[in-house]
Amino acid sequence: MAATGRDGKWAGRVAIVTGASSGIGAATARRLAAAGLRVALVARRLERLLDLKSEIESGGGQAEAFAADLACEEERRRLFDRIDTLVGPAEALVNNAGFGWYGYYEEMPWETARDMLQVNVGAAIHLTSLFLPGMRARNSGHVVNIGSIAGSFPNQGVAVYSATKSFLDAFTTVLYRELRGSKVNVSVVRAGPVRTEFCEQALNREGGGHVPTENVGVTSEVVAEKVWRLLLRPRKVVYVPSILRLAPWVEMTFGWLVDRLGPLLLKYRRTA
Ligand SMILES: NC(=O)c1ccc[n+]([C@@H]2O[C@H](COP(=O)([O-])OP(=O)(O)OC[C@H]3O[C@@H](n4cnc5c(N)ncnc54)[C@H](OP(=O)(O)O)[C@@H]3O)[C@@H](O)[C@H]2O)c1
Repeated sequence: MAATGRDGKWAGRVAIVTGASSGIGAATARRLAAAGLRVALVARRLERLLDLKSEIESGGGQAEAFAADLACEEERRRLFDRIDTLVGPAEALVNNAGFGWYGYYEEMPWETARDMLQVNVGAAIHLTSLFLPGMRARNSGHVVNIGSIAGSFPNQGVAVYSATKSFLDAFTTVLYRELRGSKVNVSVVRAGPVRTEFCEQALNREGGGHVPTENVGVTSEVVAEKVWRLLLRPRKVVYVPSILRLAPWVEMTFGWLVDRLGPLLLKYRRTA
C-alpha cells in the first residue's frame, strides 16, 4: 500500500467513506488509508467492510467498519453517535453511497425512486448536517460529495438519478459559498462512467434496464485519487475524467440535439 502523504496534515485524521463495500467507496477508503487517515467504512454489507478493514490493516492502515442502511434516518443518527464514540471527530466525510436505475420514469417503481432519494440525497445531506457542526466548531474539515456528470447532463432514462446528482451539485455550491473564509471545505466530484458494480446493481432492481455506459469508464482508483487530491488541494468541483468539464457546455449548446437523439437510444435499449 502506498504511503503517500502519511506525514501530511491528514495523517491520523478520521475520514468517513459511505458506500465503502464496493467500487468508488472501497477504492477511496483504500487510498485515504494509504495516505495515513483512519477510515470509517460504511455500507450495509458488513462482511465486505470487514474484509476491507482487514486488507487495510494488513497494509499498516487503520479502519473501522460500520454497517448501516443509509436509506434509514434512524440508522444515520446511530451511525453518527457510533463513529463519534468509537473513532472520534470526523475530519473528512465522503458522501459516496448511491445507486442508479435505467428506464422510462413512468416504469420506475415508486419504492426504487423513494430509496434512491433517501440514499443519494437524504443520506448525503443528513450526514452533512450531523458532521458539519463539529467541523465548523474545530474550523477544520472537508465534505466531498460524489456527484455525477448526469447532474449537469441529464439524459433520458435516468430521471431521478440525474435529479439526485443535480441536487448534490446545488447543495455543494451553496455550502461552498456559505463556508467561504473558513477552513471547512466542500466539493463535488462530477464523475463520468466508472467501472464498478453500479450498472449491475441498477439492472438487478425491479424493472431496471442496461445502463448504456455499462462497458465503459475509468477505474474506481482514478476517482479515489481525485478525492485524495481534493483533500490536499480543495476545489468546489472536479470532473473525472477532466474532459467532462465540457459537459455543461455541451448540454447548453447541443441540448436540442440530445432531445432528439436521446429518446431513440432509450427506445432502442428497451426493445433490444
Ligand atoms: N459507476 C459509475 O459510473 C458512477 C458514475 C458517476 C457517479 N457514480 C456515483 O458513485 C457512487 C458510488 O457508486 P459505485 O459506482 O462505486 O457503485 P457500487 O459499486 O454499486 O457502490 C455503491 C455503494 O453504495 C452503497 N449503498 C447503496 N445503497 C446503500 C444503502 N441503502 N445504505 C448504505 N450504503 C448503500 C453500497 O453498499 P451496500 O450495498 O453494501 O450497502 C456500495 O458500497 C454513487 O453515488 C454513484 O452514483 C458512479
